[in-house]
Amino acid sequence: MALLVVDTEYMKEIDKARRDLRALIAYKNCAPIMLRLAWHDAGTYDVNTKTGGPNGSIRNEEEYSHGSNNGLKIALDFCEEVKAKHPKITYADLYQLAGVVAVEVTGGPTVDFVPGRKDSKISPKEGRLPDAKQGAPHLRDIFYRMGLSDKDIVALSGGHTLGRCHPERSGFEGPWTRDPLKFDNSYFVELLNGESEGLLQLPTDKALLEDPEFRRYVELYVKDEDAFFRDYAASHKKLSELGFSPS
Ligand code: HEM
Repeated sequence: MALLVVDTEYMKEIDKARRDLRALIAYKNCAPIMLRLAWHDAGTYDVNTKTGGPNGSIRNEEEYSHGSNNGLKIALDFCEEVKAKHPKITYADLYQLAGVVAVEVTGGPTVDFVPGRKDSKISPKEGRLPDAKQGAPHLRDIFYRMGLSDKDIVALSGGHTLGRCHPERSGFEGPWTRDPLKFDNSYFVELLNGESEGLLQLPTDKALLEDPEFRRYVELYVKDEDAFFRDYAASHKKLSELGFSPS
């Protein structure tokens, strides 16, 4: 593996890539799928074997063709435009930067970004990402395997404030909120309100209401958007740095 040196030159490229990502996301209106890409690259992490994680491996066809990654080739191709202009930046850093920028430009909190992730060609086997048809025990199995907590599960689920389900990608259809291009606490507001015409709740979303430990955070985030933004920013940073220790 090539040595990755995060020097001033690399930092400068990160800054330029950040600007290019802001422009690209505004132009293509693609914040939701960029956030989903960052999450699916990172969310394969296994804290016990220290495999998977935000290492750019989702760019391998073997991995982006997993069922749970349906549609993400679109986001990979968008990122390729930025990579071509900033070839020094690793894919792993680029995808995580794209996720952070997607949250920022849609009005969400600033998520601290530390560069230096290395790329890996090794893809984990299919099945490490959550299955939307399951409940709270499954969410815990998957997120605890990453080394994340109950609070992380609820805060990060708030990422569904952006975007929608596409029947041809996941079999589900519709957005979680009335304004799927705005990052706010409306995912939690809608969740607590219950089913609503034109909006969708996955079984894993509903599980956040049924489990008392999860529900505590849902109720907090409905009442206090600042608390959601604070917790989301911290959990997103953790997700983006799974298995990564900045040198
Ligand atoms: C979309 C499941 C957690 C961000 C989706 C879709 C499903 C799904 C089924 C629809 C895909 C499609 O049809 O295009 C889940 C499950 C989770 C989870 C079961 C477990 C908790 C997360 C997390 C984030 C996230 C942690 C980010 C922090 C997104 C975004 C979209 C999305 C932004 C919209 C993509 C678009 O509009 O193209 N998710 N997700 N999800 N997910 Fe999740």
